[in-house]
Amino acid sequence: MITVVGDRESDIFEIFQQVPDDNMPLIVRLFDVIHFVLYNMYNQEIGARKVDYFPTKLAAGAAFCNREKEQEELLRCLNNVSPVLLISPRRYGKTSLAIHVLDKNNFLYVHIDFYKELSEEDIASAILNGIGRLLGKIEDTPEKILTLAKDFFSSFHIRAAIKTVGIEIEFEQKQKSPINIIAEALEKLEELAVKKQKKLVLFMDEFQTLAEATSHHGIEAAIRHAAQESKHVCYLFSGSNRYLLKEMFQDRKRPLYKLCHTIYLKRIQPEHYIKYIQAVSQEIWGSSISDKDLHLIFSLTQRHPYYVNKLCTLLSFQEIVSDTIILSVWENYVLENRTSVEGEVSLLAVNQRKLLFAIARNKETKELLSKEFSHALSIVPGSIPRAATALRNKDYIYENEEGYYQIVDPLVHAVLNL
Ligand SMILES: Nc1ncnc2c1ncn2[C@@H]1O[C@H](COP(=O)(O)OP(=O)(O)OP(=O)(O)O)[C@@H](O)[C@H]1O
Ligand SMILES: [Mg+2]
Repeated sequence: MITVVGDRESDIFEIFQQVPDDNMPLIVRLFDVIHFVLYNMYNQEIGARKVDYFPTKLAAGAAFCNREKEQEELLRCLNNVSPVLLISPRRYGKTSLAIHVLDKNNFLYVHIDFYKELSEEDIASAILNGIGRLLGKIEDTPEKILTLAKDFFSSFHIRAAIKTVGIEIEFEQKQKSPINIIAEALEKLEELAVKKQKKLVLFMDEFQTLAEATSHHGIEAAIRHAAQESKHVCYLFSGSNRYLLKEMFQDRKRPLYKLCHTIYLKRIQPEHYIKYIQAVSQEIWGSSISDKDLHLIFSLTQRHPYYVNKLCTLLSFQEIVSDTIILSVWENYVLENRTSVEGEVSLLAVNQRKLLFAIARNKETKELLSKEFSHALSIVPGSIPRAATALRNKDYIYENEEGYYQIVDPLVHAVLNL
């Protein structure tokens, strides 16, 4: 029987559709399907191992480097069904970490990405569709999934259709407010989890978008209510806009105040990267990389996970790795991206741009308020904190552990130093 749910299963479904439909006896056809599926899975595994040690999309399986402590911390929260919030600047590995832990530990979960949801209706629809996909993982046949979905969504006036990833829903008529829809759906999900004796995880990614999509806090209140009452559905939130997330979760006037255990993701430590890169370097370049070259990679990318992978991917097209090759590959990459980075920076207000340039060019910027610093920038001292706050909120700069201001994105840093 072909089950039309989940990731692996949806691959199988697609593969099944590629098998020619003739009048072969069923048993022969089934044998062909199994053979075809195993052959494709084998090729996918081998293919992934050869080319994708440094993914520029999600890091999964063998491409996932370390994060042992964070994995443990996250797993503890998920096992205890306690709400958890993952925070880091953009492209540090929040989604990779969450999916890695959820997959590795066989959680029944759904990943709901709020990134493109711009209104309360969009948010409600994203949550309901997410629940629809989750129902597809709870049952194992299309018939059972449909029955479950019909029952679950009976009071919502929506149309449910079965898709390769589970149930997809569409609102037929708007009778209830998005807040009520979300509150009711989350309550029903908890009841369902209790009835089925399953632990479920709702992974809400780019969660700060919710704050931008609504002018009040009704949806946050509905989510808080559900998350704090829940014993079977775990709520995992993640996002990169630390300013908005801080307002949502650390302001005592907001509903989500102190709801979550927070995990702040930092950059991956050199020793973990060294272990990982050396382990795969033999296969990619036929030899290990010298310590000096590894540290050059770390210094150019500043161990920003996305850029480590990007640079290593570009290096993997080279026969050998040396300091000159590393420098020239990185320089080409910076030059190729120069126009887009400059375009983005040119949209900043003048004082913000001045401050950004100064931080990029000074190796160690600590005393933003010193007279010398404001004089060198020709900005009145009073305007510097405002510009710094704006740059921090937009994720251009951060304060490192030693209290020095640094540019978050090594590509921006490199372009500003050209
Ligand atoms: N543990 C890891 N090991 C190796 N590479 C990683 C790891 N975590 C993240 N990366 C790499 O970092 C980049 C960003 O990962 P990911 O998309 O998970 O980050 P994110 O914080 O969710 O980003 P965004 O803020 O854009 O949503 C990807 O190239 C990914 O492969
Ligand atoms: Mg992400």
